[in-house]
Amino acid sequence: MSFTDREQFSKRIRRVMISEEELHAAIAQAGAEIDAAYEGKPLLLVSILKGAFVFLADLARAVSIPCEIGFMQAQSYFEGTVSSGKVEITLDLTQDISQYHVIIVEDIIDTGRTLSLVAEELRRRNPLSLRILTLLDKPERRVVDLKADKSLFTIPDAFVVGYGLDCAEYYRNLPYIAEYEEP
Ligand code: IMP
Ligand code: MG
Repeated sequence: MSFTDREQFSKRIRRVMISEEELHAAIAQAGAEIDAAYEGKPLLLVSILKGAFVFLADLARAVSIPCEIGFMQAQSYFEGTVSSGKVEITLDLTQDISQYHVIIVEDIIDTGRTLSLVAEELRRRNPLSLRILTLLDKPERRVVDLKADKSLFTIPDAFVVGYGLDCAEYYRNLPYIAEYEEP
């Protein structure tokens, strides 16, 4: 699929589910909570690419205590808009996380498979502590036992795009979270 037509691109957006204002308010609050909880501690924010790159960029600027940033990529394989259940770590951290309090910054927890694998791997590396912060949570869709320590928005079982989240690599650049309509 290739999109160059603005009209075709917009047609598949059913509605705005979470506005820019709502996103920024929730993230400002999450940043303030991180400041309070991790003051004086070595902190590493680990973003899971690609989906969490926009959330991480805004969250990092809502945090005012010193922190480091790391990136991982985990590929979950999709058939259309449905997760196939296969997950692989394709990009890893450069930091030795045993020296850090780690917060995994994720875009969305759907079945939970991606994050449970990433969290398990990071736990094996003995960080000082490990917490999961997700922007979105679709609890109805969970197939593995995984709970975020904090979720900013709980959403129903709908496929969403924008603010980093894609459909076939498109829509990551929308500044809000939108419900996607299958063609
Ligand atoms: P899980 O392993 O099923 O929890 O899937 C997690 C990954 O699937 C996320 O990091 C997203 O990249 C992708 N994903 C799950 N639900 C959606 C959605 O509604 N829109 C876009 N991507 C999604
Ligand atoms: Mg994706």
